[in-house]
Amino acid sequence: MYKVTFRGKVAVEVELGKENSLLVAANKAGIALTQRCRGHARCGTCLVTVEEGQDQLSPVGTVEARILRILKARQNQRLACQTYSQGEVCCRVD
Ligand code: FES
Repeated sequence: MYKVTFRGKVAVEVELGKENSLLVAANKAGIALTQRCRGHARCGTCLVTVEEGQDQLSPVGTVEARILRILKARQNQRLACQTYSQGEVCCRVD
């Protein structure tokens, strides 16, 4: 289990198993993260900014990379539905 912290209007911490994505963590934390495609890496609405622990995250896959490129995402932004943590992470959700 790993601790995931979401910062934004409120700060929330949740425990996350390594088999769960950051989107699952956000849902567990009660964060209203938009997820139009329901986690299929098609919409990009679940974009989060990783403020700490980027080195703890799963690598960016081909499908996620395509969406991040379309969104012109910054280096520290990831699709929550495609990202898994292997350690403590802090994300900003605005
Ligand atoms: S929920 Fe659509 S890309 Fe993540």
